[in-house]
This record gives sequence, structure tokens and C-alpha cells, in this order.
Amino acid sequence: MKIQIINGPNLNLLGVREPGIYGSSSFESYLDTLRKRYPDVEIAYYQSNVEGELIDKLQEVGFEADGVVLNAGAYTHTSIALQDCIRSLKAPVVEVHISNVHKREEFRHKSMISCACMGVIAGFGLDSYRLAIEAIIAAQ
Ligand code: DQA
Repeated sequence: MKIQIINGPNLNLLGVREPGIYGSSSFESYLDTLRKRYPDVEIAYYQSNVEGELIDKLQEVGFEADGVVLNAGAYTHTSIALQDCIRSLKAPVVEVHISNVHKREEFRHKSMISCACMGVIAGFGLDSYRLAIEAIIAAQ
């Protein structure tokens, strides 16, 4: 089974960026833990700060992966291009947020991509990614 994790803008700074909100662990070290927990799942990882590159990656993996875990960062709240892309794919996409976006500023309450995703997980810290993987496994 192959699951692709895709992180959007500023998520390369996890561990450094606003640790009070996003925690103090880097994504790379969390990824190690995740891969050890799911030895039978091939977990691929990609991060970009560029909207078009996220779309390119989704198009590349979205017809062969068993599922995609997507934290689109701030593009979540703005990107119709990502919504259109997710709609075009074969693989189910789970929208993930580390923070509970509904507890935060109002502009974070609206997602442009939720309507195209299999589901949304938000507010469980990095564990949100594990919960998304569980959801993809359960949907197989
Ligand atoms: C985020 C929430 C977004 O509002 C924000 O722009 C991010 C991270 C999260 O994981 O909590 O970059 O997606």
C-alpha cells in the first residue's frame, strides 16, 4: 500500500515555526516514527512552498497512490486550483491540519479544498497525519 503525504507552504519550518501552535518536532523526525509504526505501508513525503508544484505532485501521484494526506497550509483557504486538482484525481485525499483551524482566526475557518476531499482532520498536532493514514487504511 502506498500513501503520499504532501505538505504545503511553510510546513518545511515545522519545529521552528510558531512552536506554540505547531509543536517543536520537525516533520522529518515525525516521519521516521510514522514509517516505523506502519512498516507495511510505503509512506512517501513531499513538501513545497509553491502552489503549482503541489498541483504537479498531486497529478503525478493521484492516479497510482492508495491515498494522499494533504496539508495545504494557507493554500487551504485560497486555492480553487487545488480544489479542481483534487477533484480530478483517482486517489482519495484527506485534508489535514496540525492546529484546530476552527479555534483560530476566522479566515482559517473556510477551506477551499474540503469539499473535494474524502474527509478532514484538524487539531491533533502531528498526530493528525497518523489519523489520516488510519482513515485511508480503513477505507481500502
Ligand atoms: C495549517 C493551518 C493553516 O491555516 C496554516 O496556514 C498553516 C498550517 C495547520 O496545519 O494547522 O500553514 O494547515
